[in-house]
Amino acid sequence: MPSQPASAPPDLPSSVQIVPGEGGLPLVRVTGSAGSAEVYLHGAHVTAWAPVGQEPVLWLSAASRFTDGAAIRGGVPICFPWFGAKAGHPGAPAHGFARLLDWALVDAREERDDVVLTLGLADSDATRASGWPHPFEARYTVTIGEHLTLALHVTNRGREPVQFEAALHTYLRVRDIRATEVAGLQGAPFIDQLAGPGARPGEHSPIRFDAETDRAYLGTQATTTVHDTGARRTITVAKDASNSTVVWNPWIAKAAAMADFGNDEWTGMLCIETCNIRDDAVALAPGESRTMTAVLSVGG
Ligand code: BG6
Repeated sequence: MPSQPASAPPDLPSSVQIVPGEGGLPLVRVTGSAGSAEVYLHGAHVTAWAPVGQEPVLWLSAASRFTDGAAIRGGVPICFPWFGAKAGHPGAPAHGFARLLDWALVDAREERDDVVLTLGLADSDATRASGWPHPFEARYTVTIGEHLTLALHVTNRGREPVQFEAALHTYLRVRDIRATEVAGLQGAPFIDQLAGPGARPGEHSPIRFDAETDRAYLGTQATTTVHDTGARRTITVAKDASNSTVVWNPWIAKAAAMADFGNDEWTGMLCIETCNIRDDAVALAPGESRTMTAVLSVGG
């Protein structure tokens, strides 16, 4: 899909540089006093973040594509304005168009120990032709420091009400998924996307992994804590204005079937996705906005 029209780049603080990234795609490199990150304009895609003194927190596939028309595999793809396949539009890209388009860097500034990037995307011929013809404006604020705060702000710029889904499809790096546990979603009903559409009752125990896992927890605002026992650390994903959480690991066969995912890489990743999907899709009246936020933190 073609990119958004270029706008004048903002003045950059010394902690922010724009450099050619993988595949020559423009990459915003942030080296802040409390944390560092890499963000591609392609998809407004955060591909790396670490607080100072910490190992990388986000997982990125060594087999990822970095090219127009393809989503980067790893980091934090933005799924918008639909999640998964678009009903009634078999040719529409999975997880929406936002991760395939080039966003504009609107602002970059330092705020105390943090570096704050703002990226923007608006409707274009490409988005209107995709099966979602609505005028919209999206602002994505990425705050890089001891925490990583991701805030997706969507405004309905049209004259009709709109409905959309969104996900901050966060790929976390873990030492070994088989020795990883996810707490916080106990009791929340979920749809097992590998089994069928009906919701299953919540479970009593934290999630452990011994097979492909693809679950959509609906109606939950809970903070999720990933206990990475191999690395002896926890990663916490807190959220605001998000009512769904997806938990995904492709395991062996699905990883092998994906061209942009290394055959053995499934052991080292886990997706905890901050979402509003399915029954939790967002409805906006004309002029109305909603901001969905995820906050990542690392602990011992
Ligand atoms: C997850 C979905 O969010 O994304 C999975 O729940 C899907 O069903 C996965 O396989 C990856 O999707 P994609 O389009 O990036 O390969």
